Amino acid sequence: MHSSITLTKMHNSRQINQDLHYVGASDRKLALFENIYPIPRGVSYNSYILLDEKTVLLDTADAAVGGQFFENVEAVLAGRKLDYLVVNHMEPDHCALMEDLLLRHPEVTIVTNAKAANMIRQFFDVDIDSRLQTVGEGATLCTGRHTLTFVMAPMVHWPEAMVTYDTTDKVLFSADAFGTFGALNGNIYADEVNFDRDWMDDARRYYINIVGKYGMQVQSLLKKAAGLDIQMICPLHGPIWRKDLGHFIDKYVTWSSYKPEERGVLIIYGSIYGHTAAAAEKMASLLAEHGIKCIAMYDASHTHVSQLVSECFRYSHVVLASSTYNAGIFTPMEDLLHDLKAHAWQNRTVAIIENGTWAAQSGKQMRTLLEEMKNITILGEDISLKSAMKESQVEDMKFLADLIAVNLNNE
Ligand code: FEO
Repeated sequence: MHSSITLTKMHNSRQINQDLHYVGASDRKLALFENIYPIPRGVSYNSYILLDEKTVLLDTADAAVGGQFFENVEAVLAGRKLDYLVVNHMEPDHCALMEDLLLRHPEVTIVTNAKAANMIRQFFDVDIDSRLQTVGEGATLCTGRHTLTFVMAPMVHWPEAMVTYDTTDKVLFSADAFGTFGALNGNIYADEVNFDRDWMDDARRYYINIVGKYGMQVQSLLKKAAGLDIQMICPLHGPIWRKDLGHFIDKYVTWSSYKPEERGVLIIYGSIYGHTAAAAEKMASLLAEHGIKCIAMYDASHTHVSQLVSECFRYSHVVLASSTYNAGIFTPMEDLLHDLKAHAWQNRTVAIIENGTWAAQSGKQMRTLLEEMKNITILGEDISLKSAMKESQVEDMKFLADLIAVNLNNE
């Protein structure tokens, strides 16, 4: 049995190679991915169909793009029945349309691992057991010309996640790995866009915030992937990689090993009336006078914490300057520190500036939170401002800037 639904809109599927088609869709309306991460450039939910002797759909998409997704699926199937649905990941941005798909294609066999099958039962009230083919590490599925191999990728980004490798065309369907925020603007390949200029910041923010906590598990997937001859990476978000794969894989090696991407200084301040901000600006000038060129600065109140976390993973050295607030750390800075801990931020060098008009507490409390993280080196003594930086404190600021510069240049 197969669908006879008549569609009226235009499909925008794309043929990737002889048998493989892109049937995903982009969303530019969603403000917050996972209802937490701002995505001003939108996001794509990628999905792929393999037309072989058997037909295979690799993951569905988010409910928000259901209309376009089904338009694409039916256009590519062109009346053929759907033999298999491979479920690589059960987060609803990729599985929300599964129940609808089963109504349209009740003939389909669901191919996934046991953990994902349980999640299907949790999310949906549908009979999957009569149409389930459970696969484990290294299992294969022959669809005619193609043989698909399944590789488990636990915690990249949920425990049930797996990736699928097409041994015939050397394509890795990498699930969330190698994905990025950002809607696709017609071009579906990374080599058709200026990825470093236009996409890398979103790719980093996506990786760090979505799977940054699971560096070890990402490393383990990278090790498995190193044993495969991969000619193309088809992720669940963002452009497809068919050239210069090593460039993006190298970024994943750096990010997942918690190594800095840039030797430079990131300054983040939490400032209520501008006095702590002024000290941060002074520190930036002093660092620049040392000849340091790689300096970035953000106001924690005006930058989404996902961007701050991403930047903290990017730089080798970080200066945190915060006012005291309710006898603690100014809230945006406190939120950042909790988020950094949650994302297993580590292996960085930090300097601290605090401010308080009557009882400065933020420095001590920032230090306590940083000491709970792994391998964070705190340079020198914290600088403590009373309301505003005074001329008499410029020497202390210079001393801290010297320490940062020496450490940056010697490491
Ligand atoms: Fe894109 Fe973990 O879902």
